[in-house]
Amino acid sequence: MSSSFDTDKEKYLQSQYLLKVQSILSSRYDKKPLAFVHTYGCQGNVADSERIKGMLSQMGYGFTDNLSEADFVLYNTCAVREHAEDRVFGNVGELKKYKKDKPGLKIALCGCMMQQQHIRDKIYKSYPYVDLVFGTHAIYQFPQLMFDTLSGGKRVYFAPEDNGLIMEDVPVLRDKDSKAWLPIMYGCNNFCTYCIVPYVRGREKSREPYRIINEAKKLISQGYKDITLLGQNVNSYGKNTDFNTDFSDLLKQINDLEGDFIIRFMTSHPKDCTKKLLDTMSQCKKVARHIHLPFQSGNNRILKEMNRHYTREKYLELIDYAKKVMPDISITSDVIVGFPGETEEEFNDTLSLVEKVEFTSLFTFIYSKREGTPAAEMDDPVSKEEKSRRFKELCDLQESIAAKRTAKMKGKTYRVLCEGISKNDDTLLSGRTDGNVIIEFSGDNSIIGKYVNVKVTQPLNWIVRGELVNN
Ligand code: SAH
Ligand code: SF4
Ligand code: F3S
Repeated sequence: MSSSFDTDKEKYLQSQYLLKVQSILSSRYDKKPLAFVHTYGCQGNVADSERIKGMLSQMGYGFTDNLSEADFVLYNTCAVREHAEDRVFGNVGELKKYKKDKPGLKIALCGCMMQQQHIRDKIYKSYPYVDLVFGTHAIYQFPQLMFDTLSGGKRVYFAPEDNGLIMEDVPVLRDKDSKAWLPIMYGCNNFCTYCIVPYVRGREKSREPYRIINEAKKLISQGYKDITLLGQNVNSYGKNTDFNTDFSDLLKQINDLEGDFIIRFMTSHPKDCTKKLLDTMSQCKKVARHIHLPFQSGNNRILKEMNRHYTREKYLELIDYAKKVMPDISITSDVIVGFPGETEEEFNDTLSLVEKVEFTSLFTFIYSKREGTPAAEMDDPVSKEEKSRRFKELCDLQESIAAKRTAKMKGKTYRVLCEGISKNDDTLLSGRTDGNVIIEFSGDNSIIGKYVNVKVTQPLNWIVRGELVNN
């Protein structure tokens, strides 16, 4: 994109489209039209959806969780694994009957899947009732795209390449009122050989520190108590900029803001995780004692093939240091089983790393081939059955480690933010310890959004149950 691109002009243009959409909707509907927005994938996508909902709300839409009530359906998609894509195709297929019942229904797809040409082609050919498709770099142009969709008779497909800019000041409608996502950077430069993200999210871009601080201040003044800083690799925040602020500096600046709140962040890439960051965490009272540090594999040859730029030894050294400066730290991670060519022995290195670190929890994935990535070209002789067997072995190991860890929590009291009703049992409330362990307890709904003390009474495998004490 040329340097003459005028972001103020673009913002103005979009605000005008927003008004135009508003007037189309008010002439077309007697009562507030309803939008159904569903998000797949990571918190980055959730944060994007909150911005899209912000725009929808300003256009005049209300929201519904019921598809048959909706006048507008949007799926914000994820491309990270085949399974994620299959689910989207399945759910888009389901929409056909809703469109038949309500021809005025508009259907839109956006997000990482839609940034891929072969997916757009497939949607165009096989799902002709989809009205609007847009990519990850076009979110701020959503008002214009909605105008085109509502006013013209044609399907709208728009997925420009990354223009290297960050579009600020997009309205946002947050899903929760005590816990907020705060994107600090977008895109990824790492090109891990298995991963599609750099292709669909563009190059790494850091937001200006003052914008992040201002957003954090606003969130705190609005009563948000739990703020998660987001980026694919937050540890490289500020690289290739003239900010003179790295991630540790940013964390400290947010920690120093006044107010009672917790700061979390994700994701950290081990190659850029520094002792400075771990020291900063240990010195910052409001930073949760939790780090999500994906290791992906415990074997050095596989790590090299994955283009991860660290070794098993370097990873374990970081973990040792983190535990030294924060003895109560909780460590979580991502791991891939069955990367092309992974041998049984190499997989055993993953198991032994898991045993050594004793993660609080682990997100385990079977390798999924992504078109266009280098790993998709690698020989992959290991059978599906064998990969599933390894996967199960890893999950069993982690389950026993997690159970041991949660057992140690019994009898201890934790100060947690009551986030809302538990997803597992709607008679219980739930929160998260500093270390990111889910804790469920009974209590009155009036404490949602407040900090409470909960004593652990019953450790389960992944989560714990407890009771309110001294509140
Ligand atoms: N930026 C983060 C990860 C984002 S994707 C990081 O680097 O840590 C979330 C997780 O999905 C990754 O950590 C990885 O474990 C998994 N993943 C990514 N691509 C995958 C693929 N092709 N197959 C299986 N798992 C994958
Ligand atoms: Fe994907 Fe690697 Fe970037 Fe994470 S760091 S998003 S795994 S390419
Ligand atoms: Fe998925 Fe895109 Fe996030 S591929 S994991 S939604 S960056």
